[in-house]
Amino acid sequence: MSTLIVYAGKYGCTEKCVNALTSQIKDPVEVINLHHDTVPELSNYDCVIVGGSIYFGQFQKACKQFCTDHLLDLKRRKLGLFICNAAYENTEQFLKEAYPAELLEHATAKAGFGGELNLENMRFLDKFLAKIITKSAQKENKPLPSIHWDEVEAFSETMNLHLV
Ligand SMILES: Cc1cc2nc3c(=O)[nH]c(=O)nc-3n(C[C@H](O)[C@H](O)[C@H](O)COP(=O)(O)O)c2cc1C
Repeated sequence: MSTLIVYAGKYGCTEKCVNALTSQIKDPVEVINLHHDTVPELSNYDCVIVGGSIYFGQFQKACKQFCTDHLLDLKRRKLGLFICNAAYENTEQFLKEAYPAELLEHATAKAGFGGELNLENMRFLDKFLAKIITKSAQKENKPLPSIHWDEVEAFSETMNLHLV
């Protein structure tokens, strides 16, 4: 069995989660970044995992487009769907808005992995807003956004069970 992971992110958080998934999924894994790579023929894979990050409540456009373009193919394969989102408490709502309902229904695993605000490489406006998010969290004594590695592991375990 072979797995294709298809993702789109901006500042490295989604990529980190994809790297973790790649090492945790038992079968051979190929990865493509929708911002740089060409989408291969999906019929070469038994399983597809799609993931991307949320900005201003919106899922990565490239992921949305990929799901629309390959809806039927995705419904014919084992499927995992995830998002990276700083507002972890809104995961269910973000998932609903990110992916077509029929893919969510079909998916073996679906999850929000939390998020990170990697200020170093951010463009000016993103950095400005990320600082506001960080400050308001600190003011309210809320924890800063972080990757929920337990969710990543649980996701891999579910996918592995269904890959056997
Ligand atoms: C300008 C900006 C807007 C964001 N908007 C949201 C949002 O609406 N909801 C949310 O949950 N997270 C939001 N985030 C957090 C990102 O989803 C989080 O940082 C994620 O880990 C980014 O992953 P990436 O580096 O792979 O793109 C925002 C981050 C920035 C910098």
